[in-house]
Amino acid sequence: MALDIDALRRDTPGCNGNLTHLNNAGASLMPRPALSALLGHIELESRIGGYEAAIVNSRSIEHFYDALAALLKGRPQEVAFLDSATRAWHVAFHAMDWQQGDVVLTARSEYNANMVSFLHARARHGIEFKLVPDTADGVIDVDALEAMVCPKTRLISLSHMPTNDGLINPVEQVGRIARAYGIPFLLDACQSVGQMPLDVKEIGCTMLSATGRKYLRGPRGTGFLWVDSDWIGKLVPYALDIRSANWASASSYEIAGDARRFELWETNIAGQIALGEAARYATDIGVTMMWSRIQSLATALRHMIEALDGFTVHDQGTLRSGIVTFSHRTLSTAEIVETLRRDHAINTSVSACQLTRAALIASGVTHMVRASIHAYNTIQELEALVEALGAMARRRDSGSPKANKNNDEPQEPSLGVEQ
Ligand SMILES: Cc1ncc(COP(=O)(O)O)c(C=O)c1O
Repeated sequence: MALDIDALRRDTPGCNGNLTHLNNAGASLMPRPALSALLGHIELESRIGGYEAAIVNSRSIEHFYDALAALLKGRPQEVAFLDSATRAWHVAFHAMDWQQGDVVLTARSEYNANMVSFLHARARHGIEFKLVPDTADGVIDVDALEAMVCPKTRLISLSHMPTNDGLINPVEQVGRIARAYGIPFLLDACQSVGQMPLDVKEIGCTMLSATGRKYLRGPRGTGFLWVDSDWIGKLVPYALDIRSANWASASSYEIAGDARRFELWETNIAGQIALGEAARYATDIGVTMMWSRIQSLATALRHMIEALDGFTVHDQGTLRSGIVTFSHRTLSTAEIVETLRRDHAINTSVSACQLTRAALIASGVTHMVRASIHAYNTIQELEALVEALGAMARRRDSGSPKANKNNDEPQEPSLGVEQ
């Protein structure tokens, strides 16, 4: 069975006008089933009351756990609903009992909020974190990872697909190392959930954090954490309430035995139901088929941009995602993104180079344009993007005023991490 692109686009209100949305790694366009679920629940809350609406839609709330478990090949009781990927990652990270000298192994492509959190945990708890070297194509070097494992290694943390690079880290190989040494593996799957098929058992991760609004196409302000059943009891949440724990007697409490221990009682129920619908929609459409379309569109776009005079594609990795990053010799990234949005109704975004890509920053590229493709995008949309980029570059070459390419570039601070 092939993907029905027309149906996919009909299901997507944002595809029915003249907009070309290539900011799916920022926030994707919601499909109608998720949108209807979101609006329907809010409307119900306004008519009968918030608590009462939750009772009426209790099955849809439960459906969220089933749909996410089906998507990841995990179990419903291993899933917690949260409000962002960062929250989910923090809930997992801070559920570990950090001690002075504990070591976290991570990669240069790790998401910057996670890197900042390692610095913070180093300042607060005295942990150490070490950057595993990359292979020549920019992904984590799994042999180096294995060689760096030591008795104090308490966590391996890795972003599956970095936010600003098309590379894909070899997570199954990392999972095998984590299992062999009995080290928990926290996978940031923020950009890969909904984009490529994931199987938590095959990957061998212990915890997986992700957002709802990116490739999964749920609403903003939603995210989730998946935790392997064998590990749930070993992770103690930093905050408890009437959902995550039971006040058993005046002086005792019991923490929930499943992943509800990572949730709090008050939550965005409309968002949760809508995210469940978005996950069901992705599974029904077929993530494997969407993934192969995303890859072929992204490969085509990289070739087209590489053929344009003055543009450079910056993606690393052998296997690459739907995230395409590039820059121009003289046009600033902010100028490109703004002109595309304003004059061509094409959404892309500006992506700052991660500090760990020092070689790129040293070459003068501190920011890139990020065009992130979903399965509902078309080759015609990509051709329109390339046409617009070419026109912009020609205008610049024919003498229109040169913007200061550096005005969106930050100073380069030092992370000061052990490599
Ligand atoms: C790899 C990665 N991890 C984490 C995040 C953070 O997600 P959220 O904004 O939902 O907290 C992002 C967002 O861009 C991301 O790309």
